[in-house]
Amino acid sequence: MERPYVFCHMLVSLDGKIMGRYMETPECAAAGEAFDRIAFGDAPYYRHQGWISGRVTTDDNFTLYRKPALEEGASAPEGDFLAEGAGAPWYISIDPSGRLGWMEPFVDYGGLHASVLEVLTERAPMAYRAFLRKLGISYVIAGKDHLDAPLLLKKLAKELRLETVMLGGGGVVNWSFLRQGLCDEVSLVVAPAADGSRETPSVFDVKEGLSDDTPVTFELLEAKPMEGGAVWLRYRVKHA
Ligand SMILES: NC(=O)c1ccc[n+]([C@@H]2O[C@H](COP(=O)([O-])OP(=O)(O)OC[C@H]3O[C@@H](n4cnc5c(N)ncnc54)[C@H](OP(=O)(O)O)[C@@H]3O)[C@@H](O)[C@H]2O)c1
Repeated sequence: MERPYVFCHMLVSLDGKIMGRYMETPECAAAGEAFDRIAFGDAPYYRHQGWISGRVTTDDNFTLYRKPALEEGASAPEGDFLAEGAGAPWYISIDPSGRLGWMEPFVDYGGLHASVLEVLTERAPMAYRAFLRKLGISYVIAGKDHLDAPLLLKKLAKELRLETVMLGGGGVVNWSFLRQGLCDEVSLVVAPAADGSRETPSVFDVKEGLSDDTPVTFELLEAKPMEGGAVWLRYRVKHA
């Protein structure tokens, strides 16, 4: 196995947004429950061993834009680090330059207690790697200046034995993996709500330097009505 099966699972508004005031509606709350059940409940449809999140998503939900407490001059051995006791499920945090201010080596979400796996590039300072080691946070290095996403997935398959991985947002990380042909399936729970904001991120967003607006196409696998008027859409990604 060269890389795990990758599915992108997202809760979206009717206008394709992944954040915003539409989330305050009861209609979105019902869709959110369906979203969690599909990937995180007692009997999930997808049985993934980890989920990938972009740096902004992690800052929004877990590290809250704290600065990491780095010790000046601290050093760390070269290469990856697997902390003792860490294991699946993994919270796979894309953090190329080592910015996230973690305080503990795990996250609790959707009933799962997941070990944090930081995904760094060679750009991440040694003091940041030492900070992670001190907290017992595992990390892999994937890429020199830029994230090497194929290398990351290869490491997840070969070193951590992950067979199925969820691509869990935000829009920037989703689109960069999709554009590189590194996502096999898209699963959207569409809430019957919208807010029309121009300021909020979409399910797929170009970021200069990481991706462009070359189209990707999809084959419909299933469209399933859910409680409260939501729809669960599953698409296979058509690779070029
Ligand atoms: N509705 C849902 O289901 C759902 C799910 C997840 C998240 N969200 C929301 O989505 C929002 C964030 O989305 P977002 O699109 O703005 O940000 P994002 O994808 O969470 O994070 C983007 C950042 O991640 C790093 N990154 C991602 N892909 C990379 C790549 N291929 N190469 C190098 N670095 C990469 C970069 O970090 P650096 O800037 O450090 O270089 C980039 O700026 C949050 O508000 C979150 O709550 C919603």
